[in-house]
Amino acid sequence: MKKVDFPIDKHLWHPSPVPGIIVIISTYGSNGEPNIAPKSWFQMISMNPPIVMFAGGNPGNTTEKNVIETKCFAINFVHSSIAGKVFECVNWHGRERIEKTEFKLVGAARINAPLVDDCPAHLECVLHSSQIIGGGLVVFGEIIHASMRENIMNADPETRYKLLDQILFLENGVFAGINDISKV
Ligand SMILES: Cc1cc2nc3c(=O)[nH]c(=O)nc-3n(C[C@H](O)[C@H](O)[C@H](O)COP(=O)(O)O)c2cc1C
Repeated sequence: MKKVDFPIDKHLWHPSPVPGIIVIISTYGSNGEPNIAPKSWFQMISMNPPIVMFAGGNPGNTTEKNVIETKCFAINFVHSSIAGKVFECVNWHGRERIEKTEFKLVGAARINAPLVDDCPAHLECVLHSSQIIGGGLVVFGEIIHASMRENIMNADPETRYKLLDQILFLENGVFAGINDISKV
């Protein structure tokens, strides 16, 4: 099959061959003010110690500022049922964003950050390090606690991913579900 070149600018990728799992990063500011922000540049990068990273945010954004101040953050895995709210929520900021989504924030087990209770699974992370790359801050965090809805943990292998029902960012306003699970 003939192949054609495509631009290296990700904004122009249609389709994008780099989908990203959609998560919500939840934090507190040093003043105790909660904040939530969706991210799809999220990745596990080390098994032992268990390190994840997220990227793309301006160092002046609330999430990045909060993480540097409080040295921790939570990853909340988005379920397809809240996809619309997650895409929409960036029209507001701070407290108003939380109010408009009506997401319920609850305390984390081990870190000074809230969890988004509407999400089925969470990772609690402490800041490992951060690095400016391009215009954004790459944040590395070590997972120190993980939790998931009990019914998903207890489900059989055929249904557990369907219940987790995660979504991938493809391009602006476009996402895909992950529920067509196959075994090799
Ligand atoms: C589905 C989705 C995925 C996003 N992924 C990222 C991302 O990976 N990195 C990033 O910096 N911003 C991402 N954004 C944009 C941020 O969520 C947005 O800039 C937000 O306002 C940051 O909020 P904050 O200033 O409260 O941290 C994404 C937005 C949406 C709706």
